[in-house]
Amino acid sequence: MKLLVTGGCGFIGSNFIRWALQAHPDVSVTNLDALTYAGNLENLKDVEGHARHRFVKGSVTDAAPVDGLAGVDAIVNFAAESHVDRSLYAPVDFARANVEGTLVLLEAARKHKVGRFLQVSTDEVYGSLPPEGVFTESTPLRPSSAYSASKAGADLLALAYHVTHGVPVVITRSSNNYGPYQYPEKFVPLFITNALEDKPCPVYGDGLQVRDWLHVVDNSRGIWAALEKGKAAEVYNIGGGNERPNLEVARAILKLVGKPESLLQTVKDRPGHDRRYALDARKAREELGWAPEVKFEDGLRETVAWYRANGEWVRRVKSGEYQKYYEKHYGGDRSTVQPFNR
Ligand code: DAU
Repeated sequence: MKLLVTGGCGFIGSNFIRWALQAHPDVSVTNLDALTYAGNLENLKDVEGHARHRFVKGSVTDAAPVDGLAGVDAIVNFAAESHVDRSLYAPVDFARANVEGTLVLLEAARKHKVGRFLQVSTDEVYGSLPPEGVFTESTPLRPSSAYSASKAGADLLALAYHVTHGVPVVITRSSNNYGPYQYPEKFVPLFITNALEDKPCPVYGDGLQVRDWLHVVDNSRGIWAALEKGKAAEVYNIGGGNERPNLEVARAILKLVGKPESLLQTVKDRPGHDRRYALDARKAREELGWAPEVKFEDGLRETVAWYRANGEWVRRVKSGEYQKYYEKHYGGDRSTVQPFNR
């Protein structure tokens, strides 16, 4: 099977490519990535020169290169701006990459009659949950941020391309991923790498927001299952079944890193912060035969070990652009930090 994978140098994309090349000897991958701040060729260093992997630098928003690469069996679209906090500052970038980029890919899929279009989406499109209940695939979309709204827009475009043009679209919506190679602006790698450097770990608000954690390899397996067995125009929730309040995850990280809880500092909350996510993944289990395999405690321990062992990767990723963003986001207003005494 020939795949066009977009955004394959980001966190989830690179883990998916590594996993797919290893698990499926009949798969070849063309990896189109614009190498923006979170896309990093180093994430795929171990498959550099792999006979079944070809990297092409380019953006999903550029129709000509996309069109030239679309003669494939399937497209898997990971390319996205994905950090909620950054969408506060640059919402247009999110609309461009996530909405316009998906549209360009859908057009190419239509023109080249691509056999499958897998849109990698997120549980954030459903909005926020009260303490009870779960998101199912038919929960109405109520995104809270420019990020999640742009992902919801992309999902709707994909479904519309199935109705109007018959593009065989399948959508996966996953819960919060964690694992190796995640850019350290996100909660888990931010807290691990800050703790390793004895730096404060910034907890938004009361730290009692709940996320449902999914190991990135479990997500790769879910995406593959949807690619192979998913029905056209269907959505599949890929949830880890590991609901945890942020504070509990933060404390678990500090324990694994071997640092004191005094590193936790409460900072100003994220505007429009979704309180809780939880996915009902029954449909993926029943129709795709998928279930998560990585126990959260094991996955988190391995993830901490990976960041500890890959200090050079962290050092390079945390220089330059990262520093500017960190200062802008956590400095100034938000930096009125206090020790977390809960
Ligand atoms: O649910 C899937 C989504 O998960 C993906 O679609 C997004 O791309 C991904 O970024 C993630 O969104 P979240 O906003 O849940 O992830 P983030 O790692 O930014 O934050 C996780 C939780 O931790 C959230 O409640 C906010 C909190 N947080 C985050 C940061 C960066 C903090 O308390 N402090 C922080 O500094």
